[in-house]
This record gives sequence, structure tokens and C-alpha cells, in this order.
Amino acid sequence: MLSPKEFIEDAIKKIKDQIGDEKAIIALSGGVDSSVCSVLVQEAIGDNLTAIFVDHGLLREGEVEQVTNTFKDRLNFKFVDASDEFMDALAGYDDPEDKRKIIGKVFIDVFEREAEKVDAKFLVQGTIAPDWIETKGEIKSHHNLALPNGMVLELCEPVRDLYKDEVREIGVELGLPDTTVYRQPFPGPGLGVRVVGALTRENVEICRKANKIVCDEVEAAGLDKEVWQYFAVLTDTKVTGVKGDQRDFGYLVVVRIVNSIDAMTASVAELPWDLIQTISKRITSEVSEVTHVALSISDKPPATIEFC
Ligand code: XMP
Repeated sequence: MLSPKEFIEDAIKKIKDQIGDEKAIIALSGGVDSSVCSVLVQEAIGDNLTAIFVDHGLLREGEVEQVTNTFKDRLNFKFVDASDEFMDALAGYDDPEDKRKIIGKVFIDVFEREAEKVDAKFLVQGTIAPDWIETKGEIKSHHNLALPNGMVLELCEPVRDLYKDEVREIGVELGLPDTTVYRQPFPGPGLGVRVVGALTRENVEICRKANKIVCDEVEAAGLDKEVWQYFAVLTDTKVTGVKGDQRDFGYLVVVRIVNSIDAMTASVAELPWDLIQTISKRITSEVSEVTHVALSISDKPPATIEFC
């Protein structure tokens, strides 16, 4: 069992051997896996790695600034605002699987363009052990990925034998901030799977504002490292409410806060009642389009963690 320091030295050597003087590219999400991989590969091959951070218009409040500030001086970092491309492609689709497929396809289009620009030969991926053990894939350590444009990239997966807690230890050793090392899991399609029904810029923004309140309050209560995921969901249900002395007809937002070890199962977190009340009051008073907040009390199974 290598110490984090030994793992890093060993990984840098292996990455240098694999990539040599070629160019590499990584899709940096700001989560711990892709962040650790980006920094390891940067330490091995320097600016021959381009780290691409794509804004698909479905990121959380402040996420673009947070990820940019963390990495702009540490990596050969490129921010791509593709939010219009994603939102245009998604217009009118309300089925969760359709939304996922469209987001995945546009992501590949955007990423392919960037890979071509830098003439990358390698694709760095933050695959970790559960990703390939769960799929029982006979994934070899050296394998290729063919992009739709015919470009073939060889995969480099520096943390593929590690589990999440081990990746976090490497992140700490690399000096990454807590906001990166302990960031809660966030799905690739982002808020796209937390807005029920068709996505518009407006309803994504409502979800984003409500989600920020949930995150701020859970973090202020010091519970962010205790629970697995905590977020808001914007439903497509409208309910009657009263604001001031006026009848109002606004959205129902669901707050979901769960404990889990591996996301395969999850249980609803037991939280202080005053925290729940504060979240509810803040969302209905600060997000004008919302009249009603509900707390999800279903475990996984039978529910899933995400709503879509
Ligand atoms: P579910 O909703 O299936 O989620 O219980 C299990 C875990 O996976 C995350 N999740 C996703 N992650 N792309 C991702 O990268 C997705 O489409 C996706 N859907 C769910 C979810 O946040 C939870 O941690």
C-alpha cells in the first residue's frame, strides 16, 4: 500500500512514460476525480495537458467562478461556455433519458472540437475503481476511444485503481482546496436532472437559486461532510400559495438530502427541524416563483437519488 506521496511520485512517472511528448486533454468538472487527475497529469507533462471546463448551462450557482479560480493558475485551463448550444439542443425535450442523451451528445461535440484544436493524442479520464468494477468491464489499462469525427484518443486513467476516499487523500496531498476534495457528487447532466420536465433557462435558474439555499444552509450547519448529497429539485407541479395578501400560483420545490456510501442505496438524512424550516422559508421568500417546499422522505430503493 503506497502512501499518498509515493502514489503521486509513481503516478507521475507512469504518466510521463505513457504520454511522453504528446498532447493530452481532460474534461475537468471540478469534482475530486477529474481535479486530481488534471493536477497529476499537469505535474507529469506540464502544459501539454489542456484541461477543458465546459459550462453546459446546468451548473450550480458560483460553480464557474469557483472552478476557474481554483485551476486557472495551476493548469493549462480552458473555459468553454457552451450553454447556448446545450440549451438550444434541449429545447422541448422533457423525458429524462432524452435529456441525458442530448447532453451527452452535445458534450462530445464540444469536447471533440477542443481536442482537435490542441491536436490531442491522449484523453485523461478520472475513472475510479467502482466505475469499472461495477460495470464488470474488462477494461484494459491501455485502450482507445474513437470519437465520432474519426479521431482516436488513447486513454490515460491515473486513478483507476483507487476508491473515492483514496482519491480524496491524494487531493489533500496535492494541496487541492476542501471545496474540491470534499465536493458532493454532482451528476454530469447537472441541474438538467433536477428540473422535472422540459428545460428552459428560466426554470434552470429557479432550480439553481433554490439549490444554492439548500447548499448554503447545510454547509452553514456544518453537515456538508456528513451527508452524501443535498440539493433542490424543481418540479413541474404548480400549487396555490399566498404571498403577502395576494394569492399566488407558483412552483413546488422538493428538497432532497440523503446519506449513502456508494450511491447504490441511500437513506434520507435525519436533520434538525430548524434547518429544514429555514431552508423552506428562505426558498419561498427569496425565490419568487416558488410557493411551496416539500421534503423528500423516500430512501433508495424504491426512489432514486435524483428525481429524473
Ligand atoms: P440515482 O438517481 O440513479 O443516482 O440514484 C445515483 C448517483 O449517480 C448520480 N447520477 C448521475 N451522475 N450522470 C452522472 O454523472 C447521470 O446522468 C447521473 N444520474 C444520476 C447521482 O447524483 C447519484 O450520486
